[in-house]
Amino acid sequence: MDRNIVLIGFMGTGKTEVGMLLAEKLNMKFVDTDKLIEEKEKDRIIRIFQVKGEEYFREVEEEVIEEVSNYKNCVIATGGGAVIREKNYLNLKKNGILICLTATPEEIYKRTIPKKDRPLLMKSKNVIATIKEMLEMRKPYYQKADYTIDTTNKKVEIIVNEIIDIIKKENGKNKS
Ligand code: S3P
Repeated sequence: MDRNIVLIGFMGTGKTEVGMLLAEKLNMKFVDTDKLIEEKEKDRIIRIFQVKGEEYFREVEEEVIEEVSNYKNCVIATGGGAVIREKNYLNLKKNGILICLTATPEEIYKRTIPKKDRPLLMKSKNVIATIKEMLEMRKPYYQKADYTIDTTNKKVEIIVNEIIDIIKKENGKNKS
């Protein structure tokens, strides 16, 4: 199959970790849009936010997404805010099946805060409340995914197998 598998969803839902293992198991190339942004800008995401601001980051993110949307047969992990822009959603959807990973706010907190690399959460005085607010605001965008998988309390291997089952089902559909 030529279609990309695109992982969307909030920070800390495991897009990168799941994407890497998924790509390995399916023998597909793995790309991470945040990593491509860092390579393009020769700087860390956290510094891009600090020095140039979110709007600048979103512009670079849009360019990178436009580029990777033309790839074939890749697993693409996106940043948590990527699908908020309609243009990014449409680009990713062109040749991709969109899978949204979710987790509870508490789980997201546990997975993100110790890493100190999430500019949108770091400054908050009440991180759980910020996560909840952002999740609520982003819900309609994440809901546009073709499939949604809750990753709370699940091992990466289990999540990857769930995605592989979805892909098999999709491939079966396309044959008939
Ligand atoms: C963001 C999520 C981050 C990164 C940036 C903005 C967001 O990616 O793109 O900090 O708006 O949710 P992860 O979802 O990989 O943490």
